Amino acid sequence: MVSGNGTNLQAILDACKQGTLGDEVVLVVSNNAEAYALTRAKKHQVPTLVTGQEPEMIAALQNADVALICLAGFMKILSPVFVRTFPRRIINIHPSLLPAFPGLQSIRQALEAGVTTTGVTVHFVDEGVDTGPIILQEKLDVLKTDTVESLTERIHQLEHRLYCQAIQKIAKGEL
Ligand code: GRF
Repeated sequence: MVSGNGTNLQAILDACKQGTLGDEVVLVVSNNAEAYALTRAKKHQVPTLVTGQEPEMIAALQNADVALICLAGFMKILSPVFVRTFPRRIINIHPSLLPAFPGLQSIRQALEAGVTTTGVTVHFVDEGVDTGPIILQEKLDVLKTDTVESLTERIHQLEHRLYCQAIQKIAKGEL
């Protein structure tokens, strides 16, 4: 599920194509018709759904018989009904070492707080915001010279690897 650029989706699509995830993307759901992530999905011949309505999303995900729902820059908070419909089957990637810097603008928050270490978290989605059980976390040094842009670039590189690693673990039944 996406709302924007979709670089994490791209990493997942590429890993599926290479066969490293042992799985496939069967549907991409976006609440934003302009999301570039939709173009990425179409290039990989993956069906897409654009809607802001949760009942429509739930029906499409159920019809596609999804084993796992990956939020990848999905910028809308899911309702308790949605979360309870797919228990332990929704995961999210977040650009900080949760529970530090939840919510929006996490990379900027970390930089402004002056931390020397930040990182990336993949976690199960529960009814809170960025609060669910953690699956994987990896640290990243913040450099003295870092700007929001340079740190974002390195965080994204790390995200792409860590998200695929987490999905692989789930696909292998290791969690
Ligand atoms: C990522 O930084 C992710 O951690 C956050 O939203 C961003 C999405 O980036 N949840 P992209 O759309 O995958 O490029």
